Amino acid sequence: MYTAAITGTGVFTPSQTITNAELVTAFNAYADRINAEKAEEIAAGDFEPLQHSSEEFIFKASGIEQRYVMDKAGVLNPDIMYPQLPQRDDSEPGIMAEMALDAAKKALAQAGKTAADVDLVICAASNMERAYPAVAIEIQQLLGIKGFAFDMNVACSSATFGIQAAADMIRSGSVRAALVVNPEICSGHLEWRDRDCHFIFGDVATATLLERAEDAQGDYFEVLSTRCATEFSNNIRNNNGFLRRSRPDGVEDRRDMQFMQNGRKVFKEVVPMVSQHITDHIQDNGIESSDLKRLWLHQANKSMNDFIGKKVLGRTPLPDEQPNILQDYANTSSAGSIIAFSKHSADMADGDLGLICSFGAGYSVGSVILRRHSA
Ligand code: COA
Repeated sequence: MYTAAITGTGVFTPSQTITNAELVTAFNAYADRINAEKAEEIAAGDFEPLQHSSEEFIFKASGIEQRYVMDKAGVLNPDIMYPQLPQRDDSEPGIMAEMALDAAKKALAQAGKTAADVDLVICAASNMERAYPAVAIEIQQLLGIKGFAFDMNVACSSATFGIQAAADMIRSGSVRAALVVNPEICSGHLEWRDRDCHFIFGDVATATLLERAEDAQGDYFEVLSTRCATEFSNNIRNNNGFLRRSRPDGVEDRRDMQFMQNGRKVFKEVVPMVSQHITDHIQDNGIESSDLKRLWLHQANKSMNDFIGKKVLGRTPLPDEQPNILQDYANTSSAGSIIAFSKHSADMADGDLGLICSFGAGYSVGSVILRRHSA
C-alpha cells in the first residue's frame, strides 16, 4: 500500500460579490412588487404577504456578510431573481469546467506538477450543469490528462467523499495522482425569492491534488485516515431532475425545484451527528482532540461550526484553530471546507495534525485526518 498525500489546492473565486445590504434591498423590492400585485388577494385573506428580509437577521443567524456569484445582475434584479448565464455552444468549455480548470491549475502549480503527472479527475459537486458527458471528463480533456474521470454528487459532502475515493485508489496503486475538483454554482439552485434561505449560498470552485507521498516535491499533508457516513433525510432536498418533464406539473416554477431545507431540524440533527463522527474518527485512530491543531469545517453556518468545534475540542476553539471563511463566501456547498483548508493551512508545522470535515444533504458527513510534513 502507498501513502496518499494532499500536495496542492486551488480556489477559483468569481469576480462579483453581493453584500447582505444589496441582497436585502433586491429581496425587499421583489416582496413589495409581489405584495402590490396581490393586494386584492391579501385584503381577502387569500395570500400571505411576503415579509421583508433583514441584514441583521442574516448576519446573526448565519455569520455571512457577503457571497461571490457568477452573475450578480440577474440575482439582484427584482424581476428576475436568479443568475443569467448565457447558453454556450457545445464546442465551448462548459462554465463548471471553466471554473474547475482555474482551481485545478492553481493546485497543480502549488504542487509543482503538470497534467502529465495526473491520471484521475473526480468532479465532486452538488449539481452538474448537464446529465452527460461527465463534467470531469471535459475537465480531463481541457487539462490534457490521460487516464479517466468521473462525476460524483454527495451534495455538501462531495469534496471529502471525493478525497476518500481518490486516496483509496492512490493507496491501492490503481492511480498515481488525482485531482478532486468542486465547482459549485450554488446561485443556480438557490431560491432567491425565499427570505428564509436567500442569503445562504455563494459560488466558487476548489481543487485538491492528491498523490503518493513519495512523489511530493515540497510540503504536503499525509492522508492518515478518511471516513464517510450517510443517513437518509428529507430535511435538505431539491426535487429537480431528469424526470421533471414526465410529471404532470413538473415543468412549473415549483418551489421544490430549488434548494429546500428545514433549517431548524438540520441544525438540531446534523450538529450532534457531525460532532460524534469526528470524535469517533479521531479516537479510532488513536488521536485525542487536544492533538488536533486545526479543524477545517464545512462552511454553512457560524453557529453550527461553533457548536461542533466546542463539542469536539471540549472548549471554545480559538479563531485560528477553526478558521471560518463563510463570512466572505457564504455556504459554497462542497467547496467550503476546502477553501478553509487552502487559505488556512500553510502555517502548519511539521507533524501537526488537522481534520477536514464536510456535512450536509443526505444527510452526509465526511472527514479526512491529515498530518503535515514540512521539508
Ligand atoms: N430576514 C428576517 N427574518 C427572517 C429571515 C430573513 N431573511 N428569514 C427568516 N426570518 C424569520 C423567520 O420567519 C422566523 O420568524 P418567526 O419567528 O416569526 O417565525 C425567524 O426569523 C426565525 O427563523 P428561523 O428559520 O427559525 O431562523 P434560525 O435561527 O433557525 O436560522 C438558519 C435559520 C437557516 C440560518 C438556521 O436554521 C441554520 O443555520 N440551519 C442550519 C442549516 C444550514 O445552514 N444548512 C445548509 C446546508 S448544510
